[in-house]
Amino acid sequence: MESLTSSRTPCCLLGLVVLSALTFSPTLAIEVYTDREVHGTVGSKVHLSCTFWSSEWISDDISVTWHYQPDNSRNTYSIFHYSKGQAHIDDTGIFKERIEWVGYPRSKDGSIIVHNLDFSDNGTFTCDVKNPPDVVGKSSYVHLLVYDKGPVRAGMVLGIIIGAALGLVILVAILAYLIRYCWLRRQIRVQRELSALERGKLHKLSKSLKSGRQAPLLSMLDQTRSFKSSDKKKGSGDSRRK
Ligand SMILES: *[C@@H]1O[C@H](CO)[C@@H](O)[C@H](O)[C@H]1NC(C)=O
Repeated sequence: MESLTSSRTPCCLLGLVVLSALTFSPTLAIEVYTDREVHGTVGSKVHLSCTFWSSEWISDDISVTWHYQPDNSRNTYSIFHYSKGQAHIDDTGIFKERIEWVGYPRSKDGSIIVHNLDFSDNGTFTCDVKNPPDVVGKSSYVHLLVYDKGPVRAGMVLGIIIGAALGLVILVAILAYLIRYCWLRRQIRVQRELSALERGKLHKLSKSLKSGRQAPLLSMLDQTRSFKSSDKKKGSGDSRRK
């Protein structure tokens, strides 16, 4: 009994240490996640996703801020801010009337949509989240590249390639069928000719046996008649013989 309690004590101690480490650890802070890179085409929109994880409950004082830094520029602009349950969309700067708030901080989502993209929008967007008292943590950034309808053209090219490939397959199938059909027909014709020739030969043989002097060409030209007549001849010959 004594040994059992003594083995339990370190276990409880360990649990206490883990619990205190979880509560007071300075490594536990807010974590923000975005994509690394997003692509868009001129005139279209792009979804800039931002999610986060906090060791604290989501408080009413949670705030989300988006910054923008154009490529080849050192300036950084605050383009969006959410705090005290209110979204503040910048309505004077570069993204004037082009930003839509689609986040839901209670579900750890701070995403925005940028509408009507322009070539000059290439740049870095940074998402920053503070969840007091959990305010320590790194922000996350996403790089936006705007293309000149390139992906649309690429899609069209892909469609044409797929269409051409399908057409080729159908063409080959039809060709194969036609070749097979012709071959079969030829085969039947050859067979018929062969059997006809065979019959002709037999007939010629029988004819030459009966009346050896007739021209072979004539007998070949009028096979059926000569066949019948030879039958008659044969019949009469038989009767004569009788
Ligand atoms: C934005 O980036 C794309 C892709 O790299 C490029 O084609 C385009 O020219 C850039 N726009 C500007 C204004 O530099």
